Amino acid sequence: MSQFSIAAQSPFSSQLILALSKGRIFEDTLPLLEAAGITVLENPETSRKLILATNDPNVRVIIVRASDVPTYVQHGAADFGVAGKDVLLEHGGEGLYQPIDLSIAKCRMSVAVNAGFDYEKAVRQGARLRVATKFVNTAREHFAAKGVHVDLIKLYGSMELAPIVGLSDAIVDVVSTGSTLRANNLVEVEEIMDISSRLVVNQAALKLKRERLQPILEAFERASKLNQ
Ligand code: ATP
Ligand code: PRP
Repeated sequence: MSQFSIAAQSPFSSQLILALSKGRIFEDTLPLLEAAGITVLENPETSRKLILATNDPNVRVIIVRASDVPTYVQHGAADFGVAGKDVLLEHGGEGLYQPIDLSIAKCRMSVAVNAGFDYEKAVRQGARLRVATKFVNTAREHFAAKGVHVDLIKLYGSMELAPIVGLSDAIVDVVSTGSTLRANNLVEVEEIMDISSRLVVNQAALKLKRERLQPILEAFERASKLNQ
């Protein structure tokens, strides 16, 4: 088998594939991997490689979009991965075992509007709100539970722009420091839920590769307690 044909690996293989996204999830997962004795040998910020070797010849890291991590793990193209609760709620979590809240990439999912927009009044009067978001399932459920009628506008990024240019009345997006909202003269009017990233494991891999996975999961669990 060539070094590139890892997707079709047998579930009985001793190889483990971990799916991570570049940026904060990769950075925040590195200390957890170190706690499990695993060092990633390449840096995705400087390398164009999508399959990264580690000091353990049986463990490799694949670099995918944050919102694609659950898909790779669900289909067994990766044995395990790290994904935000926001992403998992949109994906639905089918075929995934979610054993550990890693307490990394912490933020919150919120509703924000232009400063000066009377959100409470709009909601009280039963207005039909136009809501722009990447998180359409979460937004739909949130507003349905409140009995607020919404027109959802799916975006893939730069949500903060939508109310400024009149595309929407509100956005649903993740907020951490609040500096992106402030920089764009938006205000947070409602917090929907706290978000952190979870370890997700392919259900078949959990059974068939338990011996290889278990020590890593235990090390992740111990190390993630330090993030709480
Ligand atoms: P994609 O590339 O699939 O569109 P993305 O650009 O949102 O995803 P990241 O920005 O790397 O991906 O975010 C990964 C995860 O980190 C998110 O799913 C969320 O759980 C969390 N997150 C997003 N923004 C922040 C933030 N400002 N502070 C802390 N955590 C965040
Ligand atoms: C995320 C999110 C917000 C911002 C919030 O963007 O989409 O724009 O973080 O963080 P803050 O409250 O600390 O400002 P990110 O940094 O991931 O940029 P991206 O969406 O372009 O990837």
